[in-house]
Amino acid sequence: MLRYFTSGESHGEALVAFLSGLPAGLRVDQDFIDRELWRRQQGYGRGGRMKIETDRAHIVSGVRHGVTIGSPIAVLLENKDWKNWQESLPVAEGDPAKHQALKSPRPGHADLAGALKYNFPEARYVLERASARESAARVAIGSIAKLLLRELGIEVLSHVTSVGAVGLDHEVSWERIRKVCNQNEVLLGCADPEAEQRMKEEVDRVLKSGDSVGGVFEVVAQNVPPGLGTYAQWDERLDALLAAAVMSLQAVKAVEIGAGIRAAASPGSQVHDEIGYNADGTFTKFSRAHNNAGGIEGGVSNGQEIRVRGYLKPISTLRRPLQSVDFATREPVKAAYERSDVCVVPAAGVAAEAMVALTLARCALEKFGGDSMLETKRNFEGYVNQLRNY
Ligand SMILES: Cc1cc2nc3c(=O)[nH]c(=O)nc-3n(C[C@H](O)[C@H](O)[C@H](O)COP(=O)(O)O)c2cc1C
Repeated sequence: MLRYFTSGESHGEALVAFLSGLPAGLRVDQDFIDRELWRRQQGYGRGGRMKIETDRAHIVSGVRHGVTIGSPIAVLLENKDWKNWQESLPVAEGDPAKHQALKSPRPGHADLAGALKYNFPEARYVLERASARESAARVAIGSIAKLLLRELGIEVLSHVTSVGAVGLDHEVSWERIRKVCNQNEVLLGCADPEAEQRMKEEVDRVLKSGDSVGGVFEVVAQNVPPGLGTYAQWDERLDALLAAAVMSLQAVKAVEIGAGIRAAASPGSQVHDEIGYNADGTFTKFSRAHNNAGGIEGGVSNGQEIRVRGYLKPISTLRRPLQSVDFATREPVKAAYERSDVCVVPAAGVAAEAMVALTLARCALEKFGGDSMLETKRNFEGYVNQLRNY
C-alpha cells in the first residue's frame, strides 16, 4: 500500500517527506522532481519567501543508483530561510527573548483554532506547521508518484481557470494545458493569454489595496484506465479520495469533479455523457459525447480524462489587516502581518497535481500490485488487454 506523510516547520531547518510502498525498479529523475518543485514556487503574486527558497529534493533513502529499491523513500527539502530563524525558532530551548511570537491571530488562518487546540499562548508554532510551505514536501513525493504513473502512460497536469472574479468560461484542451505547464516563465498558469492578463490586473488591484485574492485551478489526469476506485465501499470511491486529497491543501475550500457545480442546476439530459461504440479509444471502443462526469462515475474511473477543480479562498494574511484580539492582553488589535503571498492559485494547482498523482498511484498499486516495476507493468498490461478484449 502506498503511504505518505510529511514533516517540518515553515522556518525550521528542513521539510521531510516520506513515501512508502512503491515497487522496486522505478527510475527516479532528479531533474523532473526539481522542476516540479520550481513550478510550485512560480506565479504572479507570490511573496518574498519564494525569492529566498530554491527547492531541491535531497533524497536520503529508498533510491539507489537512480532507481527505487522497494524501501521507504525519504526526501529532505532544505529551508534556506532557516539561517534567519535559528535563534528565534531553535530546537533547543534557546533564549526566550529572541522568540518571535505571533501575537494576534489572523482571521482565516489556523492561528486561533490551533492555539486553542494545543494550548499555546500565541500562534507561532501553529503557523509554522499550518503554512503551505508544507506543500513543497507533497510536491516532492507527488513527482515520484507521477514518475510511476508515467510508466503506466498516465499524466497529471493543471492550469488556472480563475483568479478572483476573472475566469475562463470554456473547457481547455489537454494540449493547451501541457503548453502552459511546459512554460519556463509562469505568470498565472492560465491557457488563455488575454484572460491571464486580466487575472494579472486583478492581482495588481489587490496588491495595491493591501488585500488578497483566491481563485480556481483544474487538475487533469490523462490516460487513466477505466476501473480505478470502486463504488463497493464508501472510502474506496475515487471521487471521494480525490476530493479529500485536493481539499487537504491549504486554502482549498471546495472541490468539484467534472461539471459538478453546474450539473446541480441543470437537467439530467444536459449533464450525463451519452455513450457510443466503435471509437478508436485508448482502452476500449466505448466513447462519450462529453465529459461532464470528469472521468468518474460511481466512484470508478471511466476511461475519460479525470478533471478535478479546487476552489481557493483568498490568502488570509493581509497587508491591511482585519480586526483581531491580542493573545496577551485580549484587547482589540489588528491581525498580525508576516511576509505573505497575495495570490497562489498556480502554485496550489501544482500542489494539487501532486495530491492527485499520489491518489491515482495508490489506487493503481492497489489494483495492479507488484513488488517490482516488471510485475506492476505486467499486471497493468494484462488488465489493459482484458479491457481491449471486453
Ligand atoms: C501554495 C500556497 C501558498 C500559501 N501562502 C500563504 C501565505 O503566504 N500567507 C497566508 O496567509 N496564507 C497562505 N496560504 C494559505 C494558508 O496556508 C491557509 O489559508 C492556512 O494554512 C489555513 O488553512 P485553511 O485555509 O485551509 O483553513 C497558502 C496556500 C497555498 C496553497
